[in-house]
Amino acid sequence: MPAALSISQEILKPHLEIQGGHTLSRELKVSGAKNSALVLMTSALLSEGPLELHNVPQLTDIQGMADILSSLGVRVKRSQETVWLQADDLHHAEPPYDLVNGLRASFFCIGPLLGRLGHAKVPLPGGCRIGARPVVEHIRGLKALGAMVKVEHGVVTASVPGTSRRLKGAAIVLDCPSVGATETILMASVLAEGTSTIENAAQEPEVQDLAKMLNAMGARVSGAGGPIITIEGVERLHGCNYSVIPDRIEAGTFLIAAAITRSIVRVSPVIPEHLNAVLQKLRDCGCTLEIDKQGITLIPGDLHGVDIITQPFPGFPTDLQAPFMALLTTAKGTSVVTEKIYENRMQHVAELQRMGASIRLQGNTAVVEGIPQLSAAPVSGNDLRAAAALVLAGLAARGISQVDGLNHLDRGYDGIETKLNASGAHILRHQPSG
Ligand code: EPU
Repeated sequence: MPAALSISQEILKPHLEIQGGHTLSRELKVSGAKNSALVLMTSALLSEGPLELHNVPQLTDIQGMADILSSLGVRVKRSQETVWLQADDLHHAEPPYDLVNGLRASFFCIGPLLGRLGHAKVPLPGGCRIGARPVVEHIRGLKALGAMVKVEHGVVTASVPGTSRRLKGAAIVLDCPSVGATETILMASVLAEGTSTIENAAQEPEVQDLAKMLNAMGARVSGAGGPIITIEGVERLHGCNYSVIPDRIEAGTFLIAAAITRSIVRVSPVIPEHLNAVLQKLRDCGCTLEIDKQGITLIPGDLHGVDIITQPFPGFPTDLQAPFMALLTTAKGTSVVTEKIYENRMQHVAELQRMGASIRLQGNTAVVEGIPQLSAAPVSGNDLRAAAALVLAGLAARGISQVDGLNHLDRGYDGIETKLNASGAHILRHQPSG
């Protein structure tokens, strides 16, 4: 590429300009959970009845899912945080590759399409920046429910043999507690004939949210939130009104924003039990937390390092590993951060180093030596949570940082700079047109 072109593209890159060093105050408002909303939207495929979802965050991923569902014949309307979906004229079981590509949650469509229509053809979501992210467990589960599945030319084709077009209940034991596999199998089995069980199921709050909404649609699901989920299949489901749970990862990001800027901030709404592992680590590194019914107030102390190992829920969430590491770069002493869920989720380390952080990386373990203050730099967020971590680092750094990677950030944080600015941050968005 000619040098001049590459420079002008650099200048044109959308980015946030963050003037660090400002204390935050008051309250940070948490939107609905992205990863709940995405899977709840796909559940609309299971019924002819209308689904009215409230507290849906305004994110590019949500629009991506709306586009995918529309391509299948679902009628979708959005107004601010409410989304209406109705699949009374489901005419297509094959979302197009260009919509599916890049939105991993789109693969979730395979479960409800198979349950409702008896066939589905969904392109593989492919690898992503943070790891290979296979769908082996999803496919194994669908096969156990009686589907014939083949993977050819990057597309998964699944169908239910026989005239009834109904999957058959089965006992499924997952090799690993995959969130997506649990959700896919759950959605496929609610309309199956007979009873299914999912052992070693993911226990994440988003799985519980899905089970709760499916029950509101007439399904019979019990045990979600624990390691064994039981599903008694029903013949049909109806529509419902449902409100998405608050986003625990956004809430965690905001609590870390308070801690890294050494500010007293209330974060709400939050379901505190969804964040126990994170709250414990915040306390361990010297923060005081005041928890009330609707929110959590963080009062920072003299912060020191802690060790983190990411794990499936209820362990410390991988989605907060990068943001928490940003905090630890400014906490006294040594912290060891180990990423156990994804093989390639340490890309923020090099960017934090550019801001002066002292981090040694060995494979998926980072040894962080806290320094008194980061210094501003132009940095690049290579995935959603890495970008969030760099925003947090920018809030605490001396000087003006430029954080790019907004295409990632906007997938998962609804109006992040608007919310942070209302709380005292100084962030400008540069979004060149054209
Ligand atoms: N895995 C397998 N085989 C499988 C499926 C998964 O080995 O068949 C492995 C994956 O490779 C990964 C681990 O299991 O190492 C966890 O994957 P999981 O399937 O649980 O994750 P997911 O369903 O693809 C969801 C969230 C992620 C979040 C993870 C873990 C959605 C849309 N995404 O992904 O969110 O990190 O659960 O909690 O729900 C994010 O929001 O930034 C994000 C990446």
